[in-house]
Amino acid sequence: MPLPEPIFARVGEPAIPIVLVKKAVADTWLAAQRPAVQTWARQTGWSGQLGNPLILQAADGSVSGVALGYGTGADRARKRFGVLANIATLPKATYTLTGDATDREKTAFTLGWALSQYHFDRYKSKAVDGPKLVPPSGVDVPRTSAVATGEALTRDLINTPSSDMGPDELEAVTRALADVHGARITVTKGDALLSQNFPMIHAVGRASTRAPRLIDMSWGMAGPALTLVGKGVCFDTGGLNIKPASSMGLMKKDMGGAAHVLGLAQMIMATKMPVRLRVLIPAVENSIDGNAFRPQDVLTSRKGLTVEINNTDAEGRLVLADALALADESPPDLMICMATLTGAARVAVGPDIAPYYTDDPLVSHAITQAGQDVLDPVWQMPFHDPYEAMIEPDIADLDNAPKGGFAGSITAALFLRRFVTQTARFVHFDCYGWQPASAPTRPKGGVGQGTRALFDALPKVLNL
Ligand code: BES
Ligand code: MN
Ligand code: ZN
Repeated sequence: MPLPEPIFARVGEPAIPIVLVKKAVADTWLAAQRPAVQTWARQTGWSGQLGNPLILQAADGSVSGVALGYGTGADRARKRFGVLANIATLPKATYTLTGDATDREKTAFTLGWALSQYHFDRYKSKAVDGPKLVPPSGVDVPRTSAVATGEALTRDLINTPSSDMGPDELEAVTRALADVHGARITVTKGDALLSQNFPMIHAVGRASTRAPRLIDMSWGMAGPALTLVGKGVCFDTGGLNIKPASSMGLMKKDMGGAAHVLGLAQMIMATKMPVRLRVLIPAVENSIDGNAFRPQDVLTSRKGLTVEINNTDAEGRLVLADALALADESPPDLMICMATLTGAARVAVGPDIAPYYTDDPLVSHAITQAGQDVLDPVWQMPFHDPYEAMIEPDIADLDNAPKGGFAGSITAALFLRRFVTQTARFVHFDCYGWQPASAPTRPKGGVGQGTRALFDALPKVLNL
């Protein structure tokens, strides 16, 4: 169980109150407490520091409340979800949030609490069991649960090693998700990719014993059309341009884009968002074998554009290109691509921010605003037209790996945009999908980036 079941304690269950105490009012708050509490706070150095809990005891020694430090505005800006940093250390009991927190603060706290409960325990013989929360009033519990469940799915899929998360298993997970929500699914697999004209998905995946495929899931009968496309490279060796050990070490996460769009799809379907959803996942393993695609091969894509392969490690844009071309043949109102596409994106913005591209200023405004609202930081990057020349080689229409590597995330984004010509609004996320060291609500390992922001922005973008 990645998340405890149920995620929250029942409303009405007896719960120990937690109050948030800002640093600025910590002294005043303390002055109103019993002398024993004041002494204990002084001796332990408690002064409302962000995430620092002061456990309050009844006369019989039992826990009667928690004053949870809420720090300053600057502290909270510096440490995302920092108020939840130590909740796992609270005595095992049931809590709730009281006091004068705003609905927005309560919602962030409740979501953060749920996300903090996530543990990747598939290979652990002993499961963890921590304190419980009764959701405070003013919080939309079904929505918060849907977001937490979607995020847990994303994390689980990324965390599962490639030996247990190949194209077969990614397909099985998608089928299971489709079953739960009554979605329709079709899969084009192996040589059928050639007869159905997905040549680049086939070329990238054909060297693996685990057959490449395109997974196509649809859900919802009415509303605007939304298509999500996620990179499902279940392991990226780099192919014949093999990655050095240091770079290959994390490549079980190269299906992170697929994990992101499935997590987002879970949020959308669980809350019955009134959209017609389509999810496309090219699922392949970028492997090495005698029949692997090679540097300098020229591939003809589904769209007809030819691509000179200058690095077999720039495989994500190839499999995505055929999936995007298919998506674009039935243009949705909005198309969103998510992919662990380039190391350059991580160099540009680091592991905590999801860089995204779009030509639509309204969409961009909504996503950036939502990212701030739900504590899921995103940053817009430019589809810089003058760099188009960088992806044009001498002998084909497109180059999959421009020399020099200038603006590597931008040139990859421009490459993808070439395959989306009929759809009015296109968004592409170049995500990292990995939390390098444990942080509040995010244990080390797979993590969703941008999905919560998107989920929040979609109703505005699609006028729902
Ligand atoms: N999956 C990688 C990108 C990646 C690397 C994402 C590290 C996150 C962390 C992708 O397939 C890749 O190898 N891209 C190359 C492209 C280059 C050869 C043009 C890269 O970024 O080095
Ligand atoms: Mn690669
Ligand atoms: Zn890759």
